[in-house]
Amino acid sequence: MIPIIAIDGPTASGKGTVAQRVAQQLGFHYLDSGALYRLVGLASQQSGIEFLEPLLLKELCLHMEIEFRDGGIFLGKEDVTEAIRTEEMGKRASSAGAVPEVREALIQVQKSFLKPPGLVADGRDMGSVIFPQAQLKVFLTADAKIRAQRRYKQLIAKGISANIDILTKDLVERDLRDTQRETAPLVQSEDAFLLDTSDQTIEEAVNRIIGLYQQIK
Ligand code: DC
Repeated sequence: MIPIIAIDGPTASGKGTVAQRVAQQLGFHYLDSGALYRLVGLASQQSGIEFLEPLLLKELCLHMEIEFRDGGIFLGKEDVTEAIRTEEMGKRASSAGAVPEVREALIQVQKSFLKPPGLVADGRDMGSVIFPQAQLKVFLTADAKIRAQRRYKQLIAKGISANIDILTKDLVERDLRDTQRETAPLVQSEDAFLLDTSDQTIEEAVNRIIGLYQQIK
């Protein structure tokens, strides 16, 4: 069986960076499932499809030409690596993720990332829905205030102006939508290991996950 490490958790918990580094150190493939929902957010905006039109959204998902190449993300021929990282696309991704037809349409593409020698997948439902067979499931979280501060620093470092109060409010709203939706909500599965990174560095979280993986493999 191809080994899988599923890392789920709320927005700005550090999942992306941690998961990417774990994959790198183990020489595994990496799935950033949030990027797929962000792509739906962007593609639907470009084609003027709203979230109340689930069948149109499903068609859009099934026909999106997505490519993860050379560290970048492409939608058709367009390099959208940066365009999908905005707060607006995060919100649109969260709304798209609440549409069951979108989730269903993205199942196959997510599963197609599973290839030898192994996969590290990060998102909201990696361990609960997409890869329930994962050998290691981690629920990575951190205090909401600390997550908002981390997001703030990231945006400022990129030269994007940000307001910490608005960021905190948006983050709490996004948590709520991601945990309350009916299909595949963000939950800590019973078999997931809880890792709270409020007082941890990226390095410590990475080492902890690799340590856990080495114990069970
Ligand atoms: O991980 P992220 O912040 O890039 O994800 C953006 C949004 O996409 C998130 O708020 C909810 C949605 N999402 C989802 O519904 N399921 C996933 N597996 C990953 C992301």
